[in-house]
Amino acid sequence: MIKPTSSHAKNYRRTLNDSKNDPRLTTDVFYRNKDPIVKALTPYLEELDGQVLEIGSGTGQHLINLAQKFPNITWQGSDLDEIHCKSTDAWAKDQSLNILKTLKLDASTDWANTVEHLKEFDLIFSMNVIHIAPISVINGFFENANQILKKGGLTIFYGPFKKGNNYHGEGNKIFDQKLKRENPNWGLRCMNNIIKLAKVTDFLHYKTIEMPANNHVLVFKKLN
Ligand SMILES: C[S@@+](CC[C@H](N)C(=O)[O-])C[C@H]1O[C@@H](n2cnc3c(N)ncnc32)[C@H](O)[C@@H]1O
Repeated sequence: MIKPTSSHAKNYRRTLNDSKNDPRLTTDVFYRNKDPIVKALTPYLEELDGQVLEIGSGTGQHLINLAQKFPNITWQGSDLDEIHCKSTDAWAKDQSLNILKTLKLDASTDWANTVEHLKEFDLIFSMNVIHIAPISVINGFFENANQILKKGGLTIFYGPFKKGNNYHGEGNKIFDQKLKRENPNWGLRCMNNIIKLAKVTDFLHYKTIEMPANNHVLVFKKLN
C-alpha cells in the first residue's frame, strides 16, 4: 500500500478549520490552480451529461469546484487514502450536487470492478497524482480506464511533467529531486513515456495543453 510521506501529508492534510468534527482538508495550491484547470477542461466537460471519475481526489476541492461548474455530470471521486475520501465527502455534503460517495481505491491495482456498477464512464482524470506514486499507478490507470470508459472516452492527467530528461523550468527540476529523495519510486514522469504507455492500452494521445507554473494537461482518447 502506498502511503503519503510526512511532507506530502503536511501539504495535503491541512484542515479547513480547527474543529475536530470537520473532516474537510484544504490546500493553498487549489485556489491558485482551480480557474486554469476549469478553463482547460471545459471543452471536454461542457457537452457531457454522463459520468466522470477522478483518481486521487485529495482534499476533494477540485472535484467539488468542477461539479459546481458542470452540474449535468455525475461525479465520482476516489482516493487511496481514507482521510482524503472523508474530506471529499465532507466538501460534497449539503451542496446538492451530483456527487457520488467517494471510493477508496488504489489506482495501481485492479480497481475497474469497484466502479463497474456505474457502467461506462465518459472521462477519467487525475491531477497531481502520478509524480507522487510509483509508475504502476500510470499502468493501472490506463488498464482499468480501458475497461470502464466508453469508446471515444477520455483520460486526462494534470501536473508537472518532464520531456525525456528535460524539465519545464528549474522549479520542476528541484521538485523532482525533492520527490525522489522522499521516495525513489516517485518523480516527474516523461510525457513521451506516458504517450507510449497509453498506446499499449489503446489510448491515442489527443492533446497537450500548457498550463501556468510549468504544469501541463495531457489528454488521451480511448480508441476502441
Ligand atoms: C498531491 S495529491 C493531489 C490531490 C488532488 N488531485 C489535487 O490536485 O489537489 C495526490 C493524491 O493522490 C493520492 N494517491 C497517491 N497514490 C495513489 C494511488 N496509488 N491510488 C489512488 N490515489 C493515490 C493521494 O492519497 C493524494 O490524495
